[in-house]
Amino acid sequence: MSERIQAPRGTFDVLPQEEAARDGLARAAQRILGAAGYQRLETPIFEATELFARGVGEATDIVRKEMYTFDDGGGRSVTLRPEGTAPVCRAYVEHGMHKLAQPVKLWYLGPFFRREAPQKGRYRQFFQVGAEALGSEDPAVDAEIILLVAELFEALRIHTRLRLSSLGSPEARAAYREQLVAFLRAHSDALSADVRERIELNPLRAFDAKDRGTQAVMAEAPRLFGAITPEDREHFDTVTAMLDDAGLTWERDETLVRGLDYYTRTVFEFESPDLGAQSGVGGGGRYDGLVEALGGPATPGVGFAAGIERMLLAAAQQPDAPPDVDLYVALAKPQYAREGMRIATEVRQAGLNAQVELAGRSLKGQLKHADRLHARYVAILGDEGAQLKDMDSGEQHEMETGAVPAAVLRGERPV
Ligand code: HAM
Repeated sequence: MSERIQAPRGTFDVLPQEEAARDGLARAAQRILGAAGYQRLETPIFEATELFARGVGEATDIVRKEMYTFDDGGGRSVTLRPEGTAPVCRAYVEHGMHKLAQPVKLWYLGPFFRREAPQKGRYRQFFQVGAEALGSEDPAVDAEIILLVAELFEALRIHTRLRLSSLGSPEARAAYREQLVAFLRAHSDALSADVRERIELNPLRAFDAKDRGTQAVMAEAPRLFGAITPEDREHFDTVTAMLDDAGLTWERDETLVRGLDYYTRTVFEFESPDLGAQSGVGGGGRYDGLVEALGGPATPGVGFAAGIERMLLAAAQQPDAPPDVDLYVALAKPQYAREGMRIATEVRQAGLNAQVELAGRSLKGQLKHADRLHARYVAILGDEGAQLKDMDSGEQHEMETGAVPAAVLRGERPV
């Protein structure tokens, strides 16, 4: 027999039974983003490698070690897209969208690729839903993007914590960078080897380090938020005032750094307490220099992306989403308890959800309870066998007790 071929590490199949949840999520995104005037844009799965090298940044982990890059056979280097913002900016320039009414509001949903160490919630092919608003510096756009993410999570009943900061303008950041590099050099003995090696390359990433030694150093490090200009601060305050007006809870986190180099001013991250180590469900921010860096006209932009798999993981754990009850077995007399248990077990073994009366309630109380559970069928076991009631239509049908599981499994309305 030949050796079995498996899907590559860090990838997954989306099985038919998993499609409904993903469809629901896509529909919610379409409805919520569409209602705010965002239109769907689909860009290619692979792009010129240069787009990400320049767009995402040579110093980032994504570009240094996580991209699937290959020669397309014609001497051109192409890369499976690791993120969606640079491609959307490329398309904006390529299709002359700066001539349209600004901001141009676009959204996307599709697969992305990063060669990361696979674990729960972290894959090498994953799906993102995201949106980008290009062509406006107005802090209202930052607020709108954040409120739309919050609305999407709310619709999917994903509980999140929102962290927010400002990285200021590139000039403020350049000055701060020098200060941080000097600080890190002075404390290099206490830093992890990885952070030490990258002091020059990407000093801000030290805030993200997982090792205790580096974290202790970083607790004392100068903060970029303290170095932003008054204009940057005013922008930040306007964004947060709008979030407050909408009743959205947020926390300022001066240590928030993102894994992409294009951000200016607003950066944010939504985290779910229901996820483990990979708690970031969505994130984004403003990137006022990116379109220009990709050869387009100077164009401000702001956007977000959220991981579909992480959203589904976080949503699945909501305690307030009980499973459907296909059958509730009620007992006209307590002596039918064993019969009731047998029927409920049989129905569950066949893959449906079934519950049996366990609290000695009156028959009226049992029917009320079944109603509360939104049971699709109720079987009442009595002296004459069973009455099977379809709770949707109200129709009732008498049958032998033993016939109940088959009738429920057929899902037919009793005649
Ligand atoms: P990001 O934070 O790199 O941002 O990714 C956004 C989301 O994608 C994360 O919060 C996470 O849910 C999901 N994600 C990222 N990597 C993986 C992975 N390996 N496995 C599973 N899920 C993952 C961006 O990509 C930016 N383009 C967001 C943005 C849009 N900024 C401005 N506009």
